[in-house]
Amino acid sequence: MSKDLNQKIYVAGHRGMVGSAIVRNLQAKGFNNIVTRTHAEMDLTDQAAVKAFFEQEKPDQVYLAAAKVGGIHANNTFPAEFIYDNLMVQNNVIHQAFLNGVKKLLFLGSSCIYPKLAAQPMSEDALLTGKLEPTNEPYAVAKIAGIKMCESYNRQYGQSHGVDYRSVMPTNLYGPGDNYHPENSHVIPALIRRFHEAKINNAPEVVIWGTGTPRREFLYVDDMAAASVFVMHLAKATYDSQTQPMQSHINVGYGSDVTINELAQAVAKATGYRGNIVFDSTKPDGAPRKWMSSERLNKLGWTPKVNLEEGLVQAYLAFDGQ
Ligand SMILES: NC(=O)c1ccc[n+]([C@@H]2O[C@H](COP(=O)([O-])OP(=O)(O)OC[C@H]3O[C@@H](n4cnc5c(N)ncnc54)[C@H](OP(=O)(O)O)[C@@H]3O)[C@@H](O)[C@H]2O)c1
Repeated sequence: MSKDLNQKIYVAGHRGMVGSAIVRNLQAKGFNNIVTRTHAEMDLTDQAAVKAFFEQEKPDQVYLAAAKVGGIHANNTFPAEFIYDNLMVQNNVIHQAFLNGVKKLLFLGSSCIYPKLAAQPMSEDALLTGKLEPTNEPYAVAKIAGIKMCESYNRQYGQSHGVDYRSVMPTNLYGPGDNYHPENSHVIPALIRRFHEAKINNAPEVVIWGTGTPRREFLYVDDMAAASVFVMHLAKATYDSQTQPMQSHINVGYGSDVTINELAQAVAKATGYRGNIVFDSTKPDGAPRKWMSSERLNKLGWTPKVNLEEGLVQAYLAFDGQ
């Protein structure tokens, strides 16, 4: 970890779930020169605005945690926005970072950009080996382009300009700052909302789609932020030891998964709901298992600290305090 706590760090998307956790992590470590802009202050799809920002602020490092994200429904309804916004945001930020002398940048990919039928657990070399999940293909194509853009800048400008742009691939994240929208949220925030409402309304049961047997992996967002800062500060030779010039991303997972049934029980416990949990097995289950291999990150010396039970309590506290 660099001791220079004064270096100027731009966290793009600092009001989002991941960006705000990265800011918390950096501040806790004593970094005191963090620069941010809200979406209203700077639309990252606006090339001229991003150019002016980088020319004015000249940051030393960039965490690119701004993106248009959403669940299946949003991805299906707004595919043009998902591909356009994400390509524009990342192109503008990565290219202007380069033009303005930024040597260190961290790009955030996602486990959902691996092929739909990738072998489990998904390892880094599964990227671009098969067809993508159709519902989020535009988003995934943009994210893959972002990883390849970082790699290409490293390959062309690494030697000449000292460019060292890295990518991390988070599994499903949850925690403070999550999106709890009733129709358009990921599984953990959706369950937190439903169990919370069931508790308030004394509902005798909560019905969950599917059999409850599919397995999924979840990582607490502050662990994700810690992993991001860890990967950003690895010595180049150490990072290079677990990556390749054209396969430069590192998976960030929890390392184990749970069934949806186990998850539901854990959310019920965290929210204090004491009624019944019923699984509607006439509804579809999705893939039987999705999790990532975090072997490379573990070898580099990082493991998560927050288990699901503890993370859900924190997530619920943040939700209930909203
Ligand atoms: N959440 C997960 O489970 C998960 C899993 C894997 C990977 N990731 C990755 O982590 C990153 C951050 O995700 P997140 O969950 O933190 O999302 P989030 O909570 O929606 O945060 C994204 C942030 O980016 C901002 N933003 C979006 N478009 C912008 C634009 N055109 N100009 C300026 N700001 C813009 C948003 O501002 P507004 O809200 O004002 O638009 C928001 O503050 C993404 O790259 C995502 O792919 C997330």
